[in-house]
Amino acid sequence: MSSISSLSRIQHLILDVIDNAPPLLGALASIEQRDRARVRMVVIRRFDAADMSIAVSTDLRSRKVSQLHQHPSSELCIWLGERRISLRLLVRWSIVQSDPASPSALAVLEEFWQRHSPASQAIFFMSPPGERYRRIRRQRPQRKRPETFAILLGVIQEIDALQIGRSRHVRWNYTRSATGKWTKSRMNP
Ligand SMILES: Cc1cc2nc3c(=O)[nH]c(=O)nc-3n(C[C@H](O)[C@H](O)[C@H](O)COP(=O)(O)O)c2cc1C
Repeated sequence: MSSISSLSRIQHLILDVIDNAPPLLGALASIEQRDRARVRMVVIRRFDAADMSIAVSTDLRSRKVSQLHQHPSSELCIWLGERRISLRLLVRWSIVQSDPASPSALAVLEEFWQRHSPASQAIFFMSPPGERYRRIRRQRPQRKRPETFAILLGVIQEIDALQIGRSRHVRWNYTRSATGKWTKSRMNP
């Protein structure tokens, strides 16, 4: 039995890296101006096996946020190097941002914010990511979570798992139906 031949094994693989060998990195795609695909590295900070959702923290002003707002379905590709497994997750993204009317959103934002290092917190107080660099006077370190801190919350719709074995390659596809039921099919690698 291969380690990608059941959904629960795949869940275990993801959780194992997040819990025991972080960071779990993925390449997140998005569409810019309808016809250009962009991709960048992100840290997968949480995976919830119960509802098959994942969370990535980001800067609200970054380009990926507006791109995912326009086109909320995109792939997140993860390479589990030690196990030689690629997981291509087709994800539907929503953006969690500071909303005083939503105590649950504020709580989860604060929880994620507190887990960031001072160096990564500092980025959120700079000019928007991707703007031309301008030297600005260094601010005193701030600990208070800024409005620019956001979470991309993704619900996984499909998983394409490919294991590059030493003797054979194996590929499985898992698709979530409209009712939430998962079906799996073995595919040609
Ligand atoms: C190893 C690594 C991890 C990163 N993790 C994140 C992350 O979790 N969230 C994020 O917004 N950007 C992260 N970045 C920066 C992004 O790759 C990207 O440069 C930035 O978000 C701007 O992307 P955008 O302009 O396409 O939105 C990471 C970069 C690297 C190299």
